[in-house]
Amino acid sequence: MLLQSSSLAAVVLSSIVLVGYLAPVTEAHSWLECVNWQFHNPDKKDWSDKGGECLGYARRFPLGHKFASMDSSPARHYQQDNKNPNNALPCSDGDQGEEPGMDETLAEPRDAAYNRKGWGKMTVTKVGDEICLRWPAKTHGNEDSVVMVAISKNANGKDPTQKGFNSNIVAKLKFGNCSGSGGKDNTACGGCFPVPVRASGDYVLQWRWELNEDEFYTSCADLRIGSK
Ligand SMILES: *[C@@H]1O[C@H](CO)[C@@H](O)[C@H](O)[C@H]1NC(C)=O
Repeated sequence: MLLQSSSLAAVVLSSIVLVGYLAPVTEAHSWLECVNWQFHNPDKKDWSDKGGECLGYARRFPLGHKFASMDSSPARHYQQDNKNPNNALPCSDGDQGEEPGMDETLAEPRDAAYNRKGWGKMTVTKVGDEICLRWPAKTHGNEDSVVMVAISKNANGKDPTQKGFNSNIVAKLKFGNCSGSGGKDNTACGGCFPVPVRASGDYVLQWRWELNEDEFYTSCADLRIGSK
């Protein structure tokens, strides 16, 4: 009996040590932290918290968490099925994938995923405006990886499939474009691109980061695009 409980204690202890050791490695994956980042100083563009403010977020993005902190409860990163990523669910449903994220499916009505229940605002922009996306390095900012940004083609439509997003890529951004050391967990990174030509209406933007071959992480956000 004594032997049993002490070996149980040893197992419990070693799994605590193991979890503590593995957690920072297994959870170091990124997500879209801001969809519409406004730099305070256009002459000194800085992705860190002090360098600007966020005017638009991804779907059901919970406010009030420290930058780069949503690794678990809530886990904001969503890793697509890596056996067939180009047929995978494009926006997390909070359940599927190698690493399920939070619910980022299309809301009905679309803006019901914003500005309530502690969630951030939806992005409002115009054709031709520069839009700047921000994400945490999660220790991978010195590696050579790319973020693909896709924006759906049809106003007020349902979400495209992953193949549909793949045929509407509007920007390819360097993941490691960061303010500070890309090897750190909470270094802020991002990229900017012009809003492409679209008829006025609501669209979905997909942020898709390829960390390794066939290892994709996505975030989804709605954009209200006005004409120029
Ligand atoms: C890289 O980051 C800077 C701000 O540090 C930003 O001005 C620039 O647009 C970014 N580059 C790209 C290609 O997005």
